[in-house]
Amino acid sequence: MAMPRRRHQYSHRRIPAAIFAISSAILILFIFLYLLAPSPHDNDHLRHTMMNIDIGGELNEAPLFRVPNYGGVFGRDLWSSKNGEFYYGCSNASNNFAKAAIITQPNRYLAIATSGGLNQQRTGIIDSVVAARILNATLVVPTLDKKSFWKDVSNFSEIFDIDWFISYLAKDVEIIKELPRRRGQIWNPKRMRVPRKCNERCYISRLGPVLMKKHAVTLTKFDYRLSNKLDTDLQKLRCRVNYHALKFTDPILEMGRKLVQRMRIRSQHYIAIHLRFEPDMLAFSGCYYGGGDKERKELGKIRRRWKTLHISNPDKGRRQGRCPLTPEEVGLLLRALGYDKHTHIYVASGEIYGGEETLAPLKALFPNFYSKDTIASKEELELFSSFSSRMAALDFVVCDESDVFVTNNNGNMAKILSGRRRYFGHKPTIRPNAKKLYSLFMHRDNTTWDEFASRVRQYQKGFMGEPKEGRPGRGVFHENPASCICEDSEAKTEMNLVPNWGDVEDQNTNDDIDWSDPEDEDDDKTSQQGNSLYDETRLDYERTSSEEAVLDELLSD
Ligand SMILES: *[C@@H]1O[C@H](CO)[C@@H](O)[C@H](O)[C@H]1NC(C)=O
Ligand SMILES: *[C@@H]1O[C@H](CO)[C@@H](O)[C@H](O)[C@H]1NC(C)=O
Ligand SMILES: *[C@@H]1O[C@H](CO)[C@@H](O)[C@H](O)[C@H]1NC(C)=O
Ligand SMILES: *[C@@H]1O[C@H](CO)[C@@H](O)[C@H](O)[C@H]1NC(C)=O
Repeated sequence: MAMPRRRHQYSHRRIPAAIFAISSAILILFIFLYLLAPSPHDNDHLRHTMMNIDIGGELNEAPLFRVPNYGGVFGRDLWSSKNGEFYYGCSNASNNFAKAAIITQPNRYLAIATSGGLNQQRTGIIDSVVAARILNATLVVPTLDKKSFWKDVSNFSEIFDIDWFISYLAKDVEIIKELPRRRGQIWNPKRMRVPRKCNERCYISRLGPVLMKKHAVTLTKFDYRLSNKLDTDLQKLRCRVNYHALKFTDPILEMGRKLVQRMRIRSQHYIAIHLRFEPDMLAFSGCYYGGGDKERKELGKIRRRWKTLHISNPDKGRRQGRCPLTPEEVGLLLRALGYDKHTHIYVASGEIYGGEETLAPLKALFPNFYSKDTIASKEELELFSSFSSRMAALDFVVCDESDVFVTNNNGNMAKILSGRRRYFGHKPTIRPNAKKLYSLFMHRDNTTWDEFASRVRQYQKGFMGEPKEGRPGRGVFHENPASCICEDSEAKTEMNLVPNWGDVEDQNTNDDIDWSDPEDEDDDKTSQQGNSLYDETRLDYERTSSEEAVLDELLSD
């Protein structure tokens, strides 16, 4: 993986007059063509979609809400973050950070078993390195979760480049592939769990004595077991693991790059969307997505799998911004933000609830619509398709490389990729401000497009993946790795002499909700407000192990 790059490319700001003139001409041509064209047919698709719940019977009048074909720029660059070039990833250790060879205690081993899907396991792997460092222990390469509902039998070395992992971190933590034998026998150390978000003191007090006595410990179900707040050098170590030491194996990277290349051949820029509009996820959310009785019945049936879930309250969920957007809503959001009909879209997703019918409105808004199944052949995907983690890794690569990434949920993949994109130069990541957008979507049939679009742009301020968005230290560290992002303030001051460059004015800061999974809520007393659904689920979840697996599946992508 690339080292953090300092980006000093200011020259593109001075757009040569010629290019400007040509673009203007093209723009005028487009507008002209648009005016000449008969009324766009896009709306015919939209009218029949599941979300049009507000339309009464009177369709005689021309609808107010018509999506134009053109996009817009609205004074911002659609493909990069404002001021993004003044920040760079900085995860090098300070001079005080002793070398592993000095602090590692002989005969002290930490092994871990990760849990969940690919990205949740990634979190566990990252944090296990830091845990071993805190304990001055040698880390055994983590074992992956083969039993989760994702059913992937791949081992560590089939997903990640194991030798690179070990050698990249050699100065930080000693890592070995297997526990040594003990008295000639396979050593099965004591298995334990630590609480979620355990901090340095917690690790030392809980594991220190055990390691002294038994010399090796296996921590099970290891994910989010490390506090979000740690000493800076340990946070930076986290970033070295996440952004540099963890590299997918060559077959995955090669196929991933092939997919990226195929997107790029078709168009200079592309947007990747992690839709996660999957039946289980939707049922669990308890939200209503406009599909009438059929939907209520189908999702209700799935929902009954979790006997402990409360009666759903779709309106409340929507008001609180806890419902994923429908594919159509995602499309409207993007069009309102200025991405025109010709923009190329890559969708990363599992099974879509409602299938093609649900996707149709999004495809009508963005006809250049791709997924790995449309840009790669069955044969090419054969090495991957029966391994959920490898498939997820391919999507990870394509989403990571995208010019703009759109999250539609707050799962592990969304978090990990958002953080990663910040670290590597604040590549735009759009998180729908669902809390504010919901009423706009609800009333869109009595709104004009211009009004709708301008509101969307206003509500999305602070949700675009720009520098300094959100409060530092808020949310999980992997989503907002503030300790690993440095500012080139000198260059910034210089550039700020150019007018119109202040920090983003952001009235939406209170819209941020911690709608993270129950997995993540355990002992974080600071983010309890507004989490009722998930907290209650969490408590039940602790008690009913039979449902553990299903919840894992849902929440651990
Ligand atoms: C971090 O360390 C590497 C190699 O030691 C070096 O090339 C790089 O410039 C350093 N990065 C920063 C931001 O200091
Ligand atoms: C780890 O080593 C450092 C430096 O020798 C020491 O200060 C610290 O107390 C040790 N911690 C543990 C848990 O052994
Ligand atoms: C991982 O899987 C590969 C291929 O199946 C196998 O060769 C290797 O021994 C496995 N490694 C471990 C540590 O189980
Ligand atoms: C649209 O209709 C809704 C409900 O009928 C109403 O609350 C809202 O104010 C209306 N919006 C406009 C712009 O008229």
